[in-house]
Amino acid sequence: MFDKSLKLSNYEIDKKYELQKGNILDVRNLKVSFKNKLGYVQAVRGIDICLRKGEIIGLVGESGSGKSVSVKSILGFNEGSTTTADCLNLNGINILTIEKNQWQFIRGTKVGYIPQDPLMALDPTKKIKNQIIDAIKITQKRKLNNKIFDIQRNTSIKDEEKFQQINEAKAEYKKNMIKDNVHMRMMEILSFIGINNPEEAIEAYPHEFSGGMRQRIVIAMTIIGEPDVIIADEPTTALDVTIQAKVIDLIKKLRDTMGISIIFISHNIALVANLCDYLYIMYAGKIVEKGTIEDIFLRPKHPYTWALITSIPDENSDDELVSIPGTPPNMISPPKGDAFAARNKYARKIDFEKQPPLFQVSQTHFAATWLLHPDAPKQEIPSEVKNKIKIAKKSILLKKEKQNGK
Ligand SMILES: Nc1ncnc2c1ncn2[C@@H]1O[C@H](COP(=O)(O)OP(=O)(O)O)[C@@H](O)[C@H]1O
Ligand SMILES: [Mg+2]
Repeated sequence: MFDKSLKLSNYEIDKKYELQKGNILDVRNLKVSFKNKLGYVQAVRGIDICLRKGEIIGLVGESGSGKSVSVKSILGFNEGSTTTADCLNLNGINILTIEKNQWQFIRGTKVGYIPQDPLMALDPTKKIKNQIIDAIKITQKRKLNNKIFDIQRNTSIKDEEKFQQINEAKAEYKKNMIKDNVHMRMMEILSFIGINNPEEAIEAYPHEFSGGMRQRIVIAMTIIGEPDVIIADEPTTALDVTIQAKVIDLIKKLRDTMGISIIFISHNIALVANLCDYLYIMYAGKIVEKGTIEDIFLRPKHPYTWALITSIPDENSDDELVSIPGTPPNMISPPKGDAFAARNKYARKIDFEKQPPLFQVSQTHFAATWLLHPDAPKQEIPSEVKNKIKIAKKSILLKKEKQNGK
């Protein structure tokens, strides 16, 4: 059963690609482009992201800013792209060297994916029960294969001991695969994600569920594989507001009870505030600002972050996000300066001419704007942003403090 062609030997990685201490994912200088008739679409232009163990980070930006393409590099979903990076290390695995037939070892067990449209992740022709059972069985098999691989690779034990450990692993696998045990595991997971009537629910097909319920099922399927990292790509965009909040609470629970590290993508900066520990603000394929929730909401520095905060709808309003005036640049020939300059009323000459570096504001806070240059004239946070910050302080940050038990 253990297919030798799927050996993971090239997971061994070079020192320069090593993870920083405490991290589970290190992305350094990631660039992704796609060739089309007109040239190369430079979707991601040299970004750094690090995810610590047990942390939830948010990746925020308007549609088209490169959020999905960035995370798809970690999932091996960017077929046809040119992808380069100085480091793309997922819990010790060098993603840059993964071959096609090895992705089955990575997706699901190392990194789980929750897409925007849950139907994309579910098979419409199969009952929920069969999809979950299949996922549990595949996971058990993968776990066994990984365990055998680890035992085989272990140079500190003798062959007889390896033989015995492999037999024990196979016995445990057989036990876990018994019908009743698989069923028990299924019920355990369904109860975790908050399905009230699991025995009835599993007999249904995906189309018989509401959007929120479908997304819960996708989350269930994702956690079956016990991944180290989960990437949730706008998982609540298709849901209405009250359901959104419940799905977000569930995603938070994955971290709080299972210790899974999470990347949560959203075009809505208000949505991530109660969930994330750290935010990356993305525009035109670059990270323009990064910091803790407090850094970003109380002391935002980049005019693009100001624009995102201004676009938060007023409290108690059912309005969608207000869109930011202007349009993002053409990514085949992105601007040579700050890509946001053309939409930025605070832009100066240099913003159109030269790419700003990522200035350090504090130990946790960085922003790529010339406004932070020591010689730049002082620019106050605009009053409309300040007003939104006041509201954010009340509704978002206080709630977060409560959650943190402060
Ligand atoms: N497969 C692809 N081929 C060509 N261009 C692509 C492909 N996928 C994404 N892009 C382009 O890359 C840019 C970033 O897309 P994406 O990461 O999906 O944005 P976001 O998730 O932030 O809305 C967009 O300009 C998009 O058109
Ligand atoms: Mg996207």
